[in-house]
Amino acid sequence: MRIPEDVARTIVSPRAYGAGAPVDEAFTWLRREAPLAVAVPPGYSPFWVVARHADILAVERQNDLFHNGDTFTTLTPIEAGKQVMKMTGGSPHLVRALVQMDNPDHFAYRRLTQAWFMPQNLRQLEARIRELARHFVDHMASLGGTCDFARDVAFLYPLRVVMEVLGVPQIDEPRMLTLTQELFGSADPDVNRSKVADLDPAERVREVQATVVDFMQYFHAMTEDRRKNPRNDLASVIANGQIDGKPLGHLEAMGYYIIAATAGHDTTSATTAGTLWALAERPDQFAKVKNDPALIANLIEESIRWVTPVKHFMRSATADTELAGQKIGKGDWMMLAYPSGNRDESVFDRPFDFDVTRAPNKQLAFGYGAHVCLGQHLARMEMRILWEELLPRLQSVELAGEPKNVEANFVSGPKTVPIRYKMN
Ligand code: HEM
Repeated sequence: MRIPEDVARTIVSPRAYGAGAPVDEAFTWLRREAPLAVAVPPGYSPFWVVARHADILAVERQNDLFHNGDTFTTLTPIEAGKQVMKMTGGSPHLVRALVQMDNPDHFAYRRLTQAWFMPQNLRQLEARIRELARHFVDHMASLGGTCDFARDVAFLYPLRVVMEVLGVPQIDEPRMLTLTQELFGSADPDVNRSKVADLDPAERVREVQATVVDFMQYFHAMTEDRRKNPRNDLASVIANGQIDGKPLGHLEAMGYYIIAATAGHDTTSATTAGTLWALAERPDQFAKVKNDPALIANLIEESIRWVTPVKHFMRSATADTELAGQKIGKGDWMMLAYPSGNRDESVFDRPFDFDVTRAPNKQLAFGYGAHVCLGQHLARMEMRILWEELLPRLQSVELAGEPKNVEANFVSGPKTVPIRYKMN
């Protein structure tokens, strides 16, 4: 079945993701009427939309049958795709990070930092991350009862954490934040490079490419430095890492830095901002979690489900196959619709309610299988520490204006959350 054009347009529309509700409605319709069907929005090559929780997991589990790297890993309009391939000399990828790789490379490159991201290793960062959380909570208290929680706290704290673990000095953080927002928000005139609305796809690719070049220049210099002076940071692991006895390839090393320096904070910031937005609108949920710190772990899972900052990743089939009763052809492009999986009525009771007591919570916002988010334990830890520090001091909170989301169809979450609050 082919998905009706209005639904297909909605699920790729940056503006619809900014508004939120149209995307929720489109996916609810798809889960009910066409849970695995083909979308052909104008300007895009056809792709299957995998809307149900179980089918998303089924695709992610079979990473030999459904590849990441054979074609574009995120929604890319035809014209933008042509532009990328012109720039790269035929590759669909501007850089080669883990999300663009398949085995055997994926396994080898992931193994390089896997242990670093495991809870045992992260434990040594706990005290420092708590210091940073306290700093931002004090900062919020100093703002005197009104602030934009997104800009004043949620964007800055995960940025500081990930830049410290990566080894980027604090003075360069504003530059990293701007470059990340340009990369993920190329459709949003508030954050893209030229601050222009309705850029055509080729112009957007040119802007994204210029941003990637800026990132590469920065991290190239950092690699040189860490090869000469290794430190106890992630950049040193990447700069001095070896695959089959050789240093990482240039595009692969750059991909590693860029994914950590972008996905490593934007997603966590979006989730943090979205959590306070949800709590400010729901005094009963705020009271529950404030009065029972044991609920913080549930709050984190529920807020990751609620925000689902990564809206999709794409896969392509390596052979003819069948999924959920549909025949998938070799080479077919597939969209894993994470926000849809996280509202699936067959898995979540009252999926459109924000419930800090929800348990179990089988949210799939970190993906699943071989590519499951490498930073998931770090993200959870940062958020746990922030709520442990903030909730005891936050006496009351309400919205002081209209929160807004970034207009983007790949990574998106709140860009402004104005609040009024009392703190001690
Ligand atoms: C709430 C926060 C976050 C969310 C929702 C999130 C979401 C995701 C998703 C959906 C994927 C793809 C998974 C798949 O294909 O199955 C992913 C991959 C990845 N994430 Fe995260 N992420 C978050 C935080 C982080 C952090 C803090 C870091 C690092 C510092 C990070 C680094 C990565 C990396 C390196 C990958 C690629 C893994 C691979 O392909 O093997 N993420 N993330």
